Amino acid sequence: MIEAFHLRENRALIDAKWREKRLLTSEILGCDPIRALQPDLTAGRLRLDLMWKEGLIGIRDENDGFTEIREPDSAHPRIRGMMNLLLQDPLPVARAGLRFRYSMQEDLCGLWIDCSNEEIKQLKDEKAWLSRTLTKKRWVIEAGQKGKEFSLNETGEVLFQEARSHVWLASFDANNDEIPLRSKIHLFSQPGPEVNRAMIACGFELLDLLKTSPRSWAEFGAGYGNLTAAFASLLSEARIWTSEIHPLAVECLAENAKHFFAKAELQLTAAKLDAVASASDLWILDPPRPGFPELFDGLALRPDLKPHSVLIYHCHSKGLLGDSSRLKSLGYALQGWSSVDAFPGTPYHEVISLWNLS
Ligand SMILES: C[S@@+](CC[C@H](N)C(=O)[O-])C[C@H]1O[C@@H](n2cnc3c(N)ncnc32)[C@H](O)[C@@H]1O
Repeated sequence: MIEAFHLRENRALIDAKWREKRLLTSEILGCDPIRALQPDLTAGRLRLDLMWKEGLIGIRDENDGFTEIREPDSAHPRIRGMMNLLLQDPLPVARAGLRFRYSMQEDLCGLWIDCSNEEIKQLKDEKAWLSRTLTKKRWVIEAGQKGKEFSLNETGEVLFQEARSHVWLASFDANNDEIPLRSKIHLFSQPGPEVNRAMIACGFELLDLLKTSPRSWAEFGAGYGNLTAAFASLLSEARIWTSEIHPLAVECLAENAKHFFAKAELQLTAAKLDAVASASDLWILDPPRPGFPELFDGLALRPDLKPHSVLIYHCHSKGLLGDSSRLKSLGYALQGWSSVDAFPGTPYHEVISLWNLS
């Protein structure tokens, strides 16, 4: 299956990079991975999170200082172009978080300015920068934490309304064809198509280890439906149940479901164990950094709800450490794991592991 995805393998990384501080994933999980993928990220990032500080773009460094970043190799050329344009025509606020995005499908540039309400007002009142950027550059500009975007009405007045969705990053189906899911700039997503393909392909390959194809599966933390759409294409006959807690992701999840996973039963609230009784074959989990401790603690009290298999994605060792020890104490045995070098230049990597109830 994985060959169809044309992904680059690099086993040397298991030794060279996979040491995150004192924790080594192979030590946590007790064996080496089936697969170690290093997607080519040169010019491949369609999402880049940086900081704006007094006319410069950079990152916060280890000592809480600031390191300027000029032309990151990993960024898509359109994102590097956006960075240069921003330096030439500076954002009229002193500091902000910046998320650059580029949609290949829509040839569209997007910027999320993560700043306070006061700074949003400052941008609106200044108006000239927004007018130039919206009309001449035609960027989509979201700001703040409430999922809103700036636009101009016919009379040139600045509006700040609910953000519109675009195809910022496609998912991939079982044939490696793109699934053009819609999302918003500020919502969680993988950094680019190669990492996304690698993560999905590793999950598909691990599911090949199951002796019988799941007739039902449940997902917790679906976001806008990136994995939901991919696994719905692979397990096309199975019943799907999925949940997401973030209200703005939920809107996109519901919209994407209509087009790409219409059969899925959506739970648009926090993960609730009781609701999942009918999807006991497989759980697919892509938790935030700390993992999903509450789910596994809940399972300890409701052993009748234990799924036969759990496929789980971890971007951080702390979550992996906690969830893997909880899975073991619930009676699950590791079937195999793979890793994707989703964060080059850092000690982190994405771990995908499959567990069966023994
Ligand atoms: C790492 S993201 C994964 C998103 C998605 N799988 C993807 O590939 O883009 C984790 C998601 O879990 C959601 N989440 C966090 N806690 C949750 C909970 N208690 N119940 C349901 N979803 C939750 C977050 O809002 C976020 O969208």
